[in-house]
Amino acid sequence: MTTPAKTEKPWTGRFNQPTDQFVEAFTASVSFDQRMYRQDIAGSIAHATMLEATGILTRSERDQIITGLQEIEREIEAGDFPWSISLEDLHMNIESRLTARIGASGKKLHTGRSRNDQVATDVRLYLRQEIDAIEGLLRQLQQALITLAKEEAETIMPGFTHLQTAQPVTFGHHMLAWNEMLQRDRQRLLECRSRTNTLPLGAAALAGTTYPIDREMTATLLGFEAICSNSLDAVSDRDFAIEFTSWASLLMVHLSRFSEELVLWSSAQFDWVDLGDSFCTGSSIMPQKKNPDVPELVRGKSSRVIGNLTTLLTLMKSQPLAYNKDNQEDKEPLFDTIDTVKGSLKVYAAMMAQITLKREKMYASAESGFATATDLADYLVRGGIPFRDAHEIVGKSVSYAIDKQCDLAQLELSELQQFCAEIKEDVFSVLTLEGSVAARNHPGGTAPEQVKAAAKRAITLLQQVS
Ligand code: ARG
Repeated sequence: MTTPAKTEKPWTGRFNQPTDQFVEAFTASVSFDQRMYRQDIAGSIAHATMLEATGILTRSERDQIITGLQEIEREIEAGDFPWSISLEDLHMNIESRLTARIGASGKKLHTGRSRNDQVATDVRLYLRQEIDAIEGLLRQLQQALITLAKEEAETIMPGFTHLQTAQPVTFGHHMLAWNEMLQRDRQRLLECRSRTNTLPLGAAALAGTTYPIDREMTATLLGFEAICSNSLDAVSDRDFAIEFTSWASLLMVHLSRFSEELVLWSSAQFDWVDLGDSFCTGSSIMPQKKNPDVPELVRGKSSRVIGNLTTLLTLMKSQPLAYNKDNQEDKEPLFDTIDTVKGSLKVYAAMMAQITLKREKMYASAESGFATATDLADYLVRGGIPFRDAHEIVGKSVSYAIDKQCDLAQLELSELQQFCAEIKEDVFSVLTLEGSVAARNHPGGTAPEQVKAAAKRAITLLQQVS
């Protein structure tokens, strides 16, 4: 980046001294806002088109501006654009380059506009584009989970409460639980998109402009659903960025919980899944190690997204209307959130599509820990015993089995009958893991039949056009 002469800046009219060099670097945002160059150029082209349609620019001025901006876009894409810190930000870099290229018409582009409504427009356009990309990645992850759920609708694992064996569940049901969370995340993202997709341009610095502009036209040209209806609000609030980062925090919290399970499941103690060599790394000292880095890192990255949310909330807190330079600080946390979420979703979708299950290990885990104790109680209740009494009988049976170091299903009928004479031979059908999961056969339950139906419904929701 170069530091050109003072005269390059467009606002030096009322200044007698050049900007201090350190202040120049300190106040500049071009190093990070340049990633919005496409949106800045698209916004300027729409603005120039509207200015011509309303008679503010001539056709030839508009055409020169548009051609100049298109050339600048190519220049940036080729890596040939001379970004300059003394031109502070993306907006002034491009405008100054335009004027250098096309002369006087370039100076007319900023008519009826301010950097305040320009930057708010750019950020909204940029976020909208990234929301669409993120929605696609979220879909891919959901697709991987639903596919797994369909394939593993009958695979049995122990379900936990308090991380203690509770009742057997199917692996497919477990995957669909994660899909439910992601499905709600996707709905919330689309709602956030809609609130992001309103046009600030026309608000100018804060109060609107004296030119006869047509904001609806600019909105249509840029694909905005509506115009921001108050100029002061349009240039100053960044609630759409906060809402997105809050959305992202919740998504990352979901992924951090999922990660915690994958880390546990891939440990030698559980040994339920193999994450695939391409998603793990080794240790430089312990040759036996294969570490679940991807889920660990996603779990870790959830903290930076939550940190970004705190940054943005604190940034906005107590800001008076309208635009304040504080808002230049919105970009880095927002961009970091976007990058982190995209990376996490991308790696997760690939990892879940390649995960290998160790079904026998899961099954064996479900066999220990008395996962079917509730089924025995339900069996007794069906035979007319009040639930609280049934609970007591099963508790005693479990205690007996613990002493004998075996599972309930491994006890003799006569042994079970010591605790309740009404227990019959048919009890063994409910004490099996398969019987236990198959019995929970209602919408939302873990029975394989229900999991298959739920996976079908999940696919339909995934395919619905948002
Ligand atoms: N770089 C600035 C930002 O990111 C652009 C708007 C500057 N406006 C101003 N009045 N200084 O917010």
